[in-house]
Amino acid sequence: MFKITDIFSINYSESVSIDKDIDYIGAGLRLLTLEEANGPQFRNVRKETFQKRFESERIKLSNFDRWAKVLCRYFEQEQMDFTGKKVIELGAGTGLVGILAILLGGDVTLTDQPNVVIQLQYNVSKNIPEVGIKRAKVSALLWGKDHKQFPTDYDFIFGSDIIYRPSEFHSLITTLLYLSKQSTTIYFCSKMRKHMGVIDFYEKVLPTHFDSTIVHSVPEQEINLYKITRKEPVT
Ligand SMILES: C[S@@+](CC[C@H](N)C(=O)[O-])C[C@H]1O[C@@H](n2cnc3c(N)ncnc32)[C@H](O)[C@@H]1O
Repeated sequence: MFKITDIFSINYSESVSIDKDIDYIGAGLRLLTLEEANGPQFRNVRKETFQKRFESERIKLSNFDRWAKVLCRYFEQEQMDFTGKKVIELGAGTGLVGILAILLGGDVTLTDQPNVVIQLQYNVSKNIPEVGIKRAKVSALLWGKDHKQFPTDYDFIFGSDIIYRPSEFHSLITTLLYLSKQSTTIYFCSKMRKHMGVIDFYEKVLPTHFDSTIVHSVPEQEINLYKITRKEPVT
């Protein structure tokens, strides 16, 4: 079984995406095992020195997938095992969360906007061993538009840092309603940026159809992790 504690991620310039507007999510992602991270190339590396040391080689430690890492750490803490589970990640970006879910046994579909998919596919291929690749799928899914091409019975839905554009909240809810069933567990991790409507999303928009509880927080970074389920149908 793959252990999350063995993960260290770097984003490096092996970017296959050519859209510079999505550069930050289009970065190459490679997960290092602890063994590799402690090896000659990466030994004793701390975030700052790591960044400095490799800047010239255009290798950067990731700091933009902070939210994704909070979700990953939660999986670790809860010793999650996705074996036999059908999982979809929305707005996957580099794909860190979905990649881990594959490594933890899940049948996982990583999705994002069409222009992110090539990079996402590349990151998956770089990080998933051959035995797991059959359980990995990468697809374009634009919320509110493409969801009907997907199944409606996922066991888990993940979203890390995908709540920041109020104009998309309605589409996201439509997509969530389509992809989920009563027993689906949704995990969303967000920085609670009031000016981006995040608080309104969780307090006003989401409760129209879903129940949620905060299962983990990083108060100093204002990051909350929500466990979300569909509201019981009214009988
Ligand atoms: C801030 S990034 C977060 C990426 C990744 N989940 C992470 O935590 O590093 C937000 C992601 O949501 C995707 N996204 C935004 N609006 C979307 C939409 N309408 N449909 C599908 N994906 C969308 C973006 O392309 C991007 O990958």
